[in-house]
Amino acid sequence: MRGAAAVLLLVALVPPCLSQERDPFAWLYSPRGHGFLRADSAGGECPEECDCPPTFPVAMYCDGRGLTAMPSIPARMKYLYLQNNAIRAVPDSAMVNATNLVWLLMQHNQLASDAVGEQAFAKMQGLDRLYLHHNNLTRIPANLPGSLRDLRLNHNKIEKVVPAELDQMENLTILYLHDNAVTDMGTSLKALKSLVLLDVSGNHLKTVPKALPGELHQLYLESNAIDTVPEDFLAHVPQLQYVRMAHNQLTDKGIPRNTFNVSGLVELDLSFNKLERIPLVSTTLEHLYLQANQIKEFTLGSFCNVVDVTNFSKLQTLRLDGNEISQQDIPTESALCLRRAANIEV
Ligand SMILES: *[C@@H]1O[C@H](CO)[C@@H](O)[C@H](O)[C@H]1NC(C)=O
Ligand SMILES: *[C@@H]1O[C@H](CO)[C@@H](O)[C@H](O)[C@H]1NC(C)=O
Ligand SMILES: *[C@@H]1O[C@H](CO)[C@@H](O)[C@H](O)[C@H]1NC(C)=O
Ligand SMILES: *[C@@H]1O[C@H](CO)[C@@H](O)[C@H](O)[C@H]1NC(C)=O
Ligand SMILES: *[C@@H]1O[C@H](CO)[C@@H](O)[C@H](O)[C@H]1NC(C)=O
Repeated sequence: MRGAAAVLLLVALVPPCLSQERDPFAWLYSPRGHGFLRADSAGGECPEECDCPPTFPVAMYCDGRGLTAMPSIPARMKYLYLQNNAIRAVPDSAMVNATNLVWLLMQHNQLASDAVGEQAFAKMQGLDRLYLHHNNLTRIPANLPGSLRDLRLNHNKIEKVVPAELDQMENLTILYLHDNAVTDMGTSLKALKSLVLLDVSGNHLKTVPKALPGELHQLYLESNAIDTVPEDFLAHVPQLQYVRMAHNQLTDKGIPRNTFNVSGLVELDLSFNKLERIPLVSTTLEHLYLQANQIKEFTLGSFCNVVDVTNFSKLQTLRLDGNEISQQDIPTESALCLRRAANIEV
């Protein structure tokens, strides 16, 4: 358990560039093929289509075996690997013994929402990690355990998220919902007081999710249809460091003056939108991506109000390429304000 907790902590700290598509810790939860244990049952009963290594008797490896149905699950199991199969259903009856699961990895299967039992996951009081990405779900499964810390539902066909589905999850740290068909999050996030990473990119959102959890560090909203953001939407997320909103429909009118003038923010990605001006940002921002907008003017006031020894922008990266300005439009005074910006791309 200490090991599992350490891995979880590491996963939560993975830099955003790594945590998005590929899971850098995949090797950790997929010992097969890495010279680890391949022995058969000796630590207790084990379904014959799976491997239960005697040296790690609480883990059951059933991944990548062409399974179309759930295997039986001995009650001792804590770590269940079912990814990369063709499993279509999780009836309540298949999970009656699976009350001790800590990790349940079922990504890359063919689960449809109507084939997932209402109580399928309800009795797993210690479930920490549930991976259901790359399935065929149209809604979040009902009665998920409140103990979850890492819930991955990306690459499904989820259209709606209702508050009741995420209600109990006070410890949820990571929520992946990207590449679904979500049109509205409603107030479904409000109970998630431990949430650190929210990825809802690649959906059909028209507005930013309401009631963002106060512990949020990383918010990924790219490739949606967001055209406006409320003025105070970042006011209640003091820990927020990374905001990615590339490939939306943002215009100048849709961004109230002080929305992004919040200290704490490290990276702001507003590339591939329809901005004509550089929005006002805090002097504490380090990376600003504005490429592929329609920006016509370099407004130094967006970065610095006053410039002196202590007041200057911390910006290191500024991308303005693919806009309607050129190098000549950058005033020479900007060198004082943007003294940390090693390269400004226009
Ligand atoms: C649950 O455990 C009992 C007792 O070990 C076993 O007989 C039964 O087949 C198991 N059911 C499932 C669905 O795994
Ligand atoms: C996924 O769901 C759709 C309906 O939403 C269905 O038409 C399709 O056959 C399903 N695919 C699989 C692999 O189950
Ligand atoms: C959340 O985590 C704390 C500390 O580990 C634990 O005491 C609590 O029971 C958890 N909440 C739920 C709903 O499982
Ligand atoms: C940006 O926010 C800071 C801190 O809240 C504030 O002092 C400053 O006046 C704001 N900048 C502008 C240009 O409004
Ligand atoms: C500029 O720096 C001075 C300290 O040198 C500080 O008192 C002042 O508040 C700063 N002004 C702004 C707008 O941050």
